[in-house]
This record gives sequence, C-alpha cells and structure tokens, in this order.
Amino acid sequence: MVGPDEIAAAVAALRAGDVIGLPTETVYGLAGDASNPAAVARIFAIKGRPSSHPVIVHVPDAAHVPRWARETPAAASALMRRFWPGPLTIVLPRTTSVPDAVTGGQDTVALRVPAHPVALRVLQAFDGGLAAPSANRYGRISPTTAAHVRADLGSEVAIVLDGGPSDVGLESTIVACLDSRVAILRPGRIGAGEIEAVVGPLSVASPEAPRVPGSVVSHYAPHTPLEIVDAAALANVVAAHARAGRRSAVLAPGDGRDLPVSAWRTAAADAASYGRTLYDDLRRLDDADADVIVVARPPAGAEWTAIHDRLTRAAAPVARKP
Ligand code: TXA
Ligand code: MG
Repeated sequence: MVGPDEIAAAVAALRAGDVIGLPTETVYGLAGDASNPAAVARIFAIKGRPSSHPVIVHVPDAAHVPRWARETPAAASALMRRFWPGPLTIVLPRTTSVPDAVTGGQDTVALRVPAHPVALRVLQAFDGGLAAPSANRYGRISPTTAAHVRADLGSEVAIVLDGGPSDVGLESTIVACLDSRVAILRPGRIGAGEIEAVVGPLSVASPEAPRVPGSVVSHYAPHTPLEIVDAAALANVVAAHARAGRRSAVLAPGDGRDLPVSAWRTAAADAASYGRTLYDDLRRLDDADADVIVVARPPAGAEWTAIHDRLTRAAAPVARKP
C-alpha cells in the first residue's frame, strides 16, 4: 500500500518541478506539474519523446477542466459524467494558460481523471494538473507495474509509487470533442459503442485530426520482431521457425506443451483479462531470448478493438530497430 508519507513526498517532488512514476488504472504514467514547462520538458527528456508530441493532463475531477479547456461542449460534459474517473481522455479547445510544451503547440488539450486510488490521492493533494505520458521510453511498450517503470526509467525517476498492476493494462481511449463532432483518436477499454450510447453517432477522425503519437505505426513495440498468425496455423508457424533455427516466444490460448518454443504466455479468452496482461506478456516474451514473438490472432469483436490496435502496431516492421 502507498502510505500518506509517500503521497506527501510525491506531491512535494511534483511541486518542486520533479517528475514521478504514477500508477493509473490504464498504464503507469511519468507525471509532472502540467503548469510548469520545465517539469514537462523533463518528462520529454526522460522519455526521449519528440517535443512536438502533446501529453495528457490528468486532473482530480471535472471541476478542474475550465482551467485547461476554454470550452466544454455538452457531449464532453456527458462523457465526463459517465466515464470519469476512468480510462477516457477527452481532447478539448485549450485555454491560453496551458503551456505549449503540454500541447505540442496545438490549440487543443487532452484531459483525463484517472480512476486509480493512488493517482486520485496524488491529484487531490496536488490540486492541479499533472502531465503524464506513459512511463516508458518513446516507442516502447507501456508499463503496467512499478517494476516495469523502474526497469525502463528507474535511474532517472527517484519516486515510483507502487499501486500494483494496472487494471485495464492498455492506454485510455482518446476522444476529441471539437467543432461539435466527437471522434475516437485512440481505441481503449471504453469502446465506440459505449461512447455512442452517450453522445450519439461518432465522426471519423479526419487526417487533420490532432496528432496522436500512438498512431505512429511503430508504437508499442518490443525489440523482438512480432508476428500475428491465425490460431489454427500457430503450431505450423512455430514448427517452421524451429526448422529454420528460429526460437519462438508465443502468446496464445492453451499451454503449448507440445511445441518447440522458448517461452509461452497463455492468452486469456476474454478481452479485459487479455488487455490487463498484454504488455507484461509482451515484455516477458521480449526477454525470452527468442528470435520471433508469435501471437495467435485474438477473436474479432468490438471489445477486442484496442487489443488488435496495439498488437498491429507492435507487429509493424518499422518497429524492428534497436
Ligand atoms: O492511459 C493513458 O492515457 C496513459 C496514462 C498514464 O494516463 N497516458 C498515455 O499517455 O497513454 P501518452 O503520452 O503515452 O499518450 C497520450 C496520447 C498521445 O498519443 C498524444 O498524442 C495524445 O494523447 N494527445 C495528447 N494531447 C493531445 C491533443 N491535444 N490532441 C490529440 N491527442 C493528444
Ligand atoms: Mg505512450
């Protein structure tokens, strides 16, 4: 458990312009004072992320929104009421007081109230906005445990609050509420159907839609090349790799007992469980000293949309760089 002293130390560090590892229900964030450009610059430096990429501002509750957003359309208010605290990020027109470092110079700002109790305690004590991208190096797999954050960034982040494994395990759904249109910019646990139930039919994000670095194809990638294959073909694919002298690390249903693999993670049958452990599974398979990660294609169906999205990005060939 994270005690009051740890929360106080974290808030003191944030007030001093430092950054911390912060658990959220989606993934762990690398959090800093969103009103302090130097703190935001430190986040970008630690992540190795291009400074043109905007970051999400996390706030304690919807009452904080007007400080960051100059307009809150009715659709956005309805989404906040329905899904906050929770894994939904809402992009709105920004106020002039938002540092350019937060928005990448855009006219919009992305806001979210996370549902994790530790994140909420920190935000309430801090009583302001925390810029927090996922606490991984740019382009790598997002962390879903404090140990992941320490493994990736530990030497550069003094405080990593340990809130246990993230419950959702995938980054928040991002929705833009601009020009009276609502469009999904990044799929997540909260699906299009749930959002449409609140705001009506969605628009399709246009090419001029605000930039989402997660939409760079090479995002979320392990170091080991990853391929997605039909579940029915998995045994043959693994056998072919073995014949060619390639070791496979596999994420698939079942136990793989009879297959020549160097590692196996059992895929859950339901999307929520699969998403919760996906990034930890990919990290373990990436660490298995295999030549290829082979993933059995998960089922089709709306609740699997975010998982297909992340797997497809992890499989993108441009990601296969050191
Ligand atoms: O679940 C999450 O959203 C996690 C946790 C820590 O809250 N955060 C996260 O942050 O995934 P990050 O920086 O890895 O991804 C944030 C995404 C990026 O794709 C970024 O481009 C997008 O949010 N974003 C931020 N501000 C935006 C804006 N003004 N317009 C469009 N997209 C924006
Ligand atoms: Mg990220």
